[in-house]
Amino acid sequence: MAGVPRLICAAADLPDGGDAQRFELDLEGVRRPAFVQRWRGQAFAYVNSCAHIPVELDWNPGRMLDDSGEYLICATHGALYVPDSGLCVAGPCVGRSLQALRVREENGQVFLVDGAGDE
Ligand code: FES
Repeated sequence: MAGVPRLICAAADLPDGGDAQRFELDLEGVRRPAFVQRWRGQAFAYVNSCAHIPVELDWNPGRMLDDSGEYLICATHGALYVPDSGLCVAGPCVGRSLQALRVREENGQVFLVDGAGDE
């Protein structure tokens, strides 16, 4: 469902291992929360919905990483997701994945590629 890339944020607003940037998008006509997280230098984006129960992951708005900085964590029951794949490796939904969204960085800005034309 590619469209015109949509600006999410400035690359400088996405510190490595820091807070994620939250945004929303329409997927198949449904408004969904989403986030983009920089991890090990690269930006990764997902629909903000746990694979266990469809609730948002953040334990504070935009805070997606656990204390180790190695995993995205769901605040509800503690599922751990690998930041660069969205795969759950611990918790009640092991083996399932977050819904990934494609982003790209260009000229110091982070753009959503998937779903960008659905606004
Ligand atoms: S709702 Fe995320 S681990 Fe249960």
